[in-house]
Order: sequence, then structure tokens, then C-alpha cells
Amino acid sequence: MSFDRHRKLRRTAYMRDLVRETKLTKDDLIYPIFVTETENTKKEIESMKGVYQISLDRLHEELEEVAACGIKSVMFFGIPKEKDACGSGAYHDHGIVQEACKLSKKLFPEILVLLDTCLCEYTDHGHCGLIDPDTKDVDNDSTLPLLVDTAVSQARAGADIIAPSNMMDGFVTEIRKGLDDNGFSHIPIMSYGIKYASKFYGPFRDAAESAPSFGDRRTYQMDPANRLEAHRELKSDLEEGADMMIVKPALSYLDIIRDVRNQSDVPIIAYNVSGEYSMTRNAVDQGLLEESVIMEQMISMKRAGADIIITYFAKDLCRMLDEGM
Ligand code: PBG
Ligand code: ZN
Repeated sequence: MSFDRHRKLRRTAYMRDLVRETKLTKDDLIYPIFVTETENTKKEIESMKGVYQISLDRLHEELEEVAACGIKSVMFFGIPKEKDACGSGAYHDHGIVQEACKLSKKLFPEILVLLDTCLCEYTDHGHCGLIDPDTKDVDNDSTLPLLVDTAVSQARAGADIIAPSNMMDGFVTEIRKGLDDNGFSHIPIMSYGIKYASKFYGPFRDAAESAPSFGDRRTYQMDPANRLEAHRELKSDLEEGADMMIVKPALSYLDIIRDVRNQSDVPIIAYNVSGEYSMTRNAVDQGLLEESVIMEQMISMKRAGADIIITYFAKDLCRMLDEGM
């Protein structure tokens, strides 16, 4: 008979292991943690089962778990006590994520800390920049210096990687210059430069209490219908000095991850966002899907070209990897 016998390479588990093209390891994972400025708090987020808002005085509990799992990178998001029109909590040297970072570096110096450079968790209107009173839209250029202050303050707190998610034009140029001018030329920028205006961020905005109080983010985040626009964002971020590129969300945007992989040689990060987490978490918890579907989703992102994954499933994945799933 004349046809190819593809099944030759699928006969046994060891054979399949031998020829597997894509693998996930603990090294690939970044775990986001929500830190709140209240006291003695560990509060499960209703729309994100298994994910908590945790206060500084209990952060060690979470970090101990992370370290025990073998997770090597975390990202902190802050829930400040007070917010104002210019998001001053974001660039305060004793701001919530700055303090979380210092504590983390003290308890577990080797664990990498990434901080998200944005204002939306700290502004009373919930937008990622300053609002122009006439247009009621985010004003790009007056926001940039505040983002620089935020990034520099994050670096001063000991952040290993600055990850700006604000989607203002020119943020990489300005933040790079600010870091360099302040003695942080060794700190890399992981740009969230390819960030779509997505409804999959819904649960995050509950978790971080950062939903915009009016309007939406479509004047600064990208239109989900656009692919070529991602090429332009990628090009300018790389020219401006981004060291790594995040694509966000991940699962509905695997084509974009592949494009970015094919068009650049920097590490690519898939942000497996809150809505993606909640959908899968609920389906697994309700017994509609088997848990290994989580691994399948991670492998899909890596197969699409991602090197690194930011995911709320990081702890579950470490357990699955330990169990050989
Ligand atoms: C802040 C930020 C957001 C996310 C990461 N950084 C929310 C947003 O842009 O509204 C979303 C992450 C997630 O949904 O898990 N700009
Ligand atoms: Zn934001």
C-alpha cells in the first residue's frame, strides 16, 4: 500500500515524548498577584476563583506558595486605598506595588519581579492616563512624564523588569530614557505594546478595581479586528528599544503571536488574561472539561510562538508538571 504511516511516531508514550515539538516548563511562567493596601486581607476574587486580593502583611503567604511551586517570576498589580485624577499612587515611592516589590525582593531575592507601568489602578476615573477636560479622552503627551515617574519609582523599588501596559504612543522611548537617566540602563522593558481593547479583561478590572468610570479604552488599545496594525505597533516598539514584547489577550490572538514571532527576534510573551482564565477555570471546576485542557491551552500559545506566558494558572500548571501531566 502506498501511503504515509504517520502513526509510527505515535505508538507509545515515550515515542510521543521523543518527537514532541513544543514543551512547557516552569521557567516559562509569570504569575500575577493582586496586592491591596488594606490589612489582614486574603479575599478571593468573585469572577476569578482561586485568585486573591492579598494585603502586604500577608503577602509572604502567597510568595511562599509561589516559591514552593517553583515559579520564578511574579507580577504585582496594586489596589491602592486612595485614587485621584492623576494616579499619584502609581509613582509614589511607598506605593502599594513598590512596597510589594521591596518585600518580595527581601524575602525571595532570586524571584524576578515585574511591575506593570500604568495609571488605571490609581486614577479615580479608571483610565490609563490623564483626561483632557475638553475632549474627555486620554491625553497622550501629558501622561508620558507620569509613566516615566512610575517606571523609575518601580525600578527604585527593585523591579527586575518594567512592563508598561498603558498603550500611550512613545511610552517605550520615554520610559527607556527615564530609566537610563536615573541609573537603570540595566533594567529591561517588556512592552505590552500589542494590547487589544478586549472584553476578556473584565474579571481583571473587578480584581484590580480599575474599570473606567466613563467611556472605554478604544482610543488607546487596539481594535480586535486589526492584524496589520500589530505589525506597526511591533515595529515602533522595537525601534524605541523594547527588549521583549507582550501580546494580549492570548487565546483569541494566536495569529498575532505567530506574526510577532515571525517578525522579530525578541522574547515573545503571551498574556493569558483574566477572562481566558475564568472561562477555563469555570469549565474545569464544573466538570465540563478535563483539567488537562489548561495545559493544552498553554501549549497552543507556545506553539503559536510565545516563549513566556503570564497566567493565573501558573500554580496549577506547576502541580500538573510535577504530576507529569
Ligand atoms: C492595566 C492592565 C490591564 C490588564 C493588565 N494590565 C487591564 C486593562 O487594560 O483594562 C489586563 C489583564 C487581565 O485581564 O488579566 N492597563
Ligand atoms: Zn491601564
